[in-house]
Amino acid sequence: MARAMSRHRSSSRTRRERVRFQWLLRASLALAGAFLLFLQGTAFADTPSSARQQVLTHMVRQECGSCHGMSLQGGLGPSLLPGALSDKSVEGLVATIYAGRPGTAMPPWQRFLSEDEAQWIVEQLMHGFPK
Ligand code: HEC
Repeated sequence: MARAMSRHRSSSRTRRERVRFQWLLRASLALAGAFLLFLQGTAFADTPSSARQQVLTHMVRQECGSCHGMSLQGGLGPSLLPGALSDKSVEGLVATIYAGRPGTAMPPWQRFLSEDEAQWIVEQLMHGFPK
């Protein structure tokens, strides 16, 4: 009888420990997830989120397209197709987008995007801009 009671007690203690363990497991998974999100926001800050990429893509097609042509083939501004940019420096193009070209019609875009985002746009332009 005493043995049965003690077995019962120990099994309910195990159950309680299992519940506590599952809780700990879940909490550490949540922590790991939060940490990954944090990393994504810091270490990989140079790649815009996919939502932001959509906004930027739309902006390039609409705003930049009004001068550079709706398919970026050139208009008032020069062509932004991969063939036209291939021999140009990425930094120079990023600076052109971010700060504009004073004395020309190319305006600065720094109020609307970061330098990292301008860099992302240049990388996309050089590889064929997404639709
Ligand atoms: C109001 C018209 C206008 C708008 C809007 C505009 N651009 Fe331009 N852009 C120009 C002109 C004009 C030039 C050429 C400047 C020069 O004579 O050096 C130029 C140059 C550039 C260059 C350099 C190209 C090269 O071959 O050196 C890039 C890159 C560029 N624009 C990207 C953009 C992007 C990206 C946007 C939108 C965020 C944009 N432009 C919006 C007029 C515009």
